[in-house]
Amino acid sequence: MKKIVILISGRGSNMQALLEAKLPCRIAAVISNRVDAQGLDIAKAHGIATAVVEHRDYADRENFDAALAETIDIYQPDFVVLAGFMRILTTKFVKRYHGKLINIHPSLLPAFGGLNTHARALHDGVKIHGCTVHFVASDLDHGPIIIQAAVPVLRDDTEQTLAARVLREEHRIYAQAIRWLCEDKVVLNEQGQTILLIHRQSGFTLVSPGLE
Ligand code: GAR
Repeated sequence: MKKIVILISGRGSNMQALLEAKLPCRIAAVISNRVDAQGLDIAKAHGIATAVVEHRDYADRENFDAALAETIDIYQPDFVVLAGFMRILTTKFVKRYHGKLINIHPSLLPAFGGLNTHARALHDGVKIHGCTVHFVASDLDHGPIIIQAAVPVLRDDTEQTLAARVLREEHRIYAQAIRWLCEDKVVLNEQGQTILLIHRQSGFTLVSPGLE
């Protein structure tokens, strides 16, 4: 059975969704860069090993990433799953886990990389927004896409209502992506492209606002 390690920085709702998804893998540990991350308590309540590598204890990103990698490698994971892990990772770290490092981002990448994605989506007036699970590449919030979910932006949406609609889908697609990875149904090929060894296609078109 494959093993995963989940990295968090805060609330940990995506991590919780993964813990509760009955995935075909062993969740070996949850690691946080903040000792006060709420997700650590959720992980402990699920009986999962936790560890903290405080980024503030390290002089620079290189040293932090080296310490983080050392902690991750104790568990020898097949995949390192970023679930609201809010640190920019060095190229060295990303290369070390090539093909094994997975992230979820709250936008339809390549649109709205970075922070405050929901506020920026509302500001720009997009009518469709969403979330993306992808292999991590050196560029922030970039890399071969595994799965995306799109949601409508509604007329009266606030940042909070839009975030909640996207988050519900994050929890669904992250579990699906990790399930596929653990079942060898998605791989990264030598050209750096995602290969999905499943035949399902979406026949569904989201038109937002709807046609009359
Ligand atoms: C999630 O919305 C996740 O997509 C986002 O942080 C939130 C963490 O929530 N990640 C990023 O913005 C990474 N660039 P959670 O701790 O409840 O899972």
